[in-house]
Amino acid sequence: MQMAEVNHRWLLRTRPVGMPKDSDFELVEEPVPAPTEGEILVRVEMLSCDPTQRGWLGRDTYLPAVNIGEVVRSLGGGRVVRSRHPGFSEGDLVSGLVGWQDYAVIKPVGVFGVTKLPPGMPLEKALGTLGPNGLTAYFGLLDIGRPQPGETVVVSSAAGATGSLVGQIAKLKGCRAIGIAGGAEKCRWLTEVAGSDAAIDYKADRVEQKLADACPKGIDIYFDNVGGEILDAALARLAFHGRVVLCGAIADYNATEPPPGPRNYLALLNQRGRMEGFNVLDYYARAQEAVTELADWIAQGKLKDRVDVQRGLENAPAALRRLFLGQNQGKQLLRVAN
Ligand SMILES: NC(=O)c1ccc[n+]([C@@H]2O[C@H](COP(=O)([O-])OP(=O)(O)OC[C@H]3O[C@@H](n4cnc5c(N)ncnc54)[C@H](OP(=O)(O)O)[C@@H]3O)[C@@H](O)[C@H]2O)c1
Repeated sequence: MQMAEVNHRWLLRTRPVGMPKDSDFELVEEPVPAPTEGEILVRVEMLSCDPTQRGWLGRDTYLPAVNIGEVVRSLGGGRVVRSRHPGFSEGDLVSGLVGWQDYAVIKPVGVFGVTKLPPGMPLEKALGTLGPNGLTAYFGLLDIGRPQPGETVVVSSAAGATGSLVGQIAKLKGCRAIGIAGGAEKCRWLTEVAGSDAAIDYKADRVEQKLADACPKGIDIYFDNVGGEILDAALARLAFHGRVVLCGAIADYNATEPPPGPRNYLALLNQRGRMEGFNVLDYYARAQEAVTELADWIAQGKLKDRVDVQRGLENAPAALRRLFLGQNQGKQLLRVAN
């Protein structure tokens, strides 16, 4: 395979305060590295943009923070161009934590490793609907939310990579699905394409009022991707034995002060409710269950997904910001090579 002479890499220069800026990072050129025994060299083709990267840049979370001067951590995928690992061959397509760079040397084991894609699976699917976002939606809703037919499921960031799947899986399981998203276009997509029973534009509508209209019997499951005021509005409408699936809180990820606690948390007591967080990493051993069912629904035309592909490694910081500006139309990806 023809290889570029240099490896462009984005290094973390300063910990972002608020929205990540270009100047928090530095784009450097280094020689293409060589794998040693047990390692592989991957030509990165596609990067996944994920809200959790904001946490990795700032502090230790469920993974240690990225160190200053280190390559920016990112999920992505590409082709093996040199292998010194018996389980991988040149040309294999892999996905995992490849980082913001053209070439990654990887020891393919554990959380920081990569896995081979099944034959025929494109990177766009492996990084989104049949990868982390699909597993998050599937296990978050089904395992933590435990929906029953006829129940009302509300999801925030409903037109995003994860939320768009939650609403559709809720419908496939016989529930009513109400999506909350920013802007008329995303709300139109929810009701006209994704089959949501109603959509609430949190940038234009009064969310509490609209939730009351759309959920006359209350919310049985609120799948929370955003936290903040929308979480409070959903808590205020929680049904008896309602469940809040704590998936993420993107409204708070760039906050410079700790966010205020949810004001309406006593709804959990009054309604005998439950709020439970989860991390998709805990479900990777069961990934095949989800991938089989999700792939089946896609093949039958029952599950729609949207990918939003930006281009060019030089645009990595801007592509990440799109998530926090609500500019992504579905799963945000960044193509860095063909
Ligand atoms: N627990 C886990 O294991 C796990 C795994 C994956 C993802 N997550 C979480 O799931 C959530 C969604 O992630 P994703 O990858 O699917 O991203 P996404 O929903 O595709 O993209 C992020 C979206 O967040 C919305 N948003 C941004 N700022 C907001 C704000 N201040 N208030 C309300 N909405 C805002 C925007 O949509 P609008 O245009 O609608 O505002 C934006 O498009 C995140 O919280 C993420 O951390 C958790």
